[in-house]
Parts: sequence; structure tokens; C-alpha cells
Amino acid sequence: MGKRKHKRESDQLYSQVLKIASQSLSSVNGDFLNYQGDSFVEEIDQSIELLSNSEPSRSQELPKMKKFRFQLLHRWMKKNIAPCRMADVGGGKGLLSYLFQNSGWKATVIDPVNQSLPPKYKDLSSNKQTVISPLEKVTRINAEFQPSFAQGFDLLVAMHAHGCNIQMIDAALKYDCDLILLPCCVIHEPILPPAGVQWIEWLLSYIIEKGFMVAPFRLNFKGQNVGMYARPFSRFLA
Ligand SMILES: C[S@@+](CC[C@H](N)C(=O)[O-])C[C@H]1O[C@@H](n2cnc3c(N)ncnc32)[C@H](O)[C@@H]1O
Repeated sequence: MGKRKHKRESDQLYSQVLKIASQSLSSVNGDFLNYQGDSFVEEIDQSIELLSNSEPSRSQELPKMKKFRFQLLHRWMKKNIAPCRMADVGGGKGLLSYLFQNSGWKATVIDPVNQSLPPKYKDLSSNKQTVISPLEKVTRINAEFQPSFAQGFDLLVAMHAHGCNIQMIDAALKYDCDLILLPCCVIHEPILPPAGVQWIEWLLSYIIEKGFMVAPFRLNFKGQNVGMYARPFSRFLA
């Protein structure tokens, strides 16, 4: 897909996602929003700000940055979320977990395919290729995601994960976890959107109906780059 087409499609999806998420927030009682007392609600404004601040000023980085989705998600999460115990579901080789492990978070890959870490990655702060020793490891559960795996985690993250987005939503509700989803294609999900309905928009409505507050965000990489940061409403009442 050409750069312009990708940008246009991403813009359309992101604006739809923001609309759906803000409608859900406007239906929430104002006292309840005030009651939260933390910055979670402001994430939506922040995410718009991040987008408008980051994209034009980083336009020169775009050609370089489009490949670095793990580094960009790592940077966004570190900026917006306190260190916690995270499950990197469908985490593949485990680079995202590796970056978080090095940032002092407790990160575990859950993926049925056992894979080694990549031999190197680009460190965006130093702009240098960084070698990962073959002796380095991340904690892994080499299995398909099961809802019970969510127990003991604070945050479930799925970037482009297959077949587990719906299960993760149910698991986050049951085990009181936050969620970060950057879904891509619909593969092996137990329920599907009706014909003609866009998968990510449908998934967002599904999460909201299930009882989550959702803050959308978007990162500067090529491919499906719209994410949803979701927290069960019940957590605000606890
Ligand atoms: C498109 S890859 C994405 C990998 C990585 N997150 C990335 O962004 O490159 C999808 C991953 O989902 C994993 N996967 C497939 N079914 C899964 C399941 N039921 N539970 C957890 N992971 C699954 C695959 O093994 C694969 O590593």
C-alpha cells in the first residue's frame, strides 16, 4: 500500500475510533468521571495531542520510524502508564517484552510459537542498532492465550495478535486488568463483526459495551497503528 493511501486509511480509522470512544465517554455520568481522580480520562485528549504534536514535528523521522512498532509502543506506554506486570500476548519473538524488561517492568510473552529474541534492534533514543546477546531471554508462556493466564497481570497487551482479542477482553474483565489492543486482521476470533462492519471499529464498540473505558491512540509506524487503551469501569469503583 502506498504511503498516502495508508495515511488516509489510518486517518479515517482513527477519526472513527475517536468518535466511538468519545460517544461512550459522553454517555457516562459526570460525577463518575470526576470520581476517578486520575488522568485516565484525559488520555483521549492526550492521545489527540500526542498525534498532533508528534506527527508534524517528526515528519522527517517518518521514513525511518515506520518499522519500529515495538520501540514506539514501548515509548508510548512508558510515557503514559506506570510500570506494572504486563502480558505481551501474541508477542512473537518477544522484542516488546525485552524492551520493557530492560525498563524494569515485569513482562511475559504469551504465544504458542516459541521463538528466540531478534539478534538486534534499533534503539530510538541513541538511533543505533543494538545487539541482543543469544544468552538473553524473556519470560515466555508458549501456549495459546487462555483467560486464566491473565491472573496475576495488571495489563494485557496485544499488538497484531491473532485469535485472542475477544478472549483478552473477557479475561481483563474477569481478572481486573487494563488492556492495550492494536488489532490487525480478524483471524481465529470466536466472534466476528457483521458483514461490512470494520473489525477494529466493531471491536472498540464491543469493548465499550462490555464495560470498559477506552482511550484510543495512534503510533507513527506503517501498518495497523491505531491502538486502544482500555480499563474496566469496575476498576474505578473499587
Ligand atoms: C502477526 S503475529 C504478531 C507478532 C508480534 N506481536 C508483532 O507485532 O510482530 C501474530 C502472533 O500471534 C500469535 N498467536 C496466534 N494465535 C495465538 C493465540 N491463540 N494466543 C496467543 N498468541 C497467538 C502467533 O504465534 C504470532 O506470533
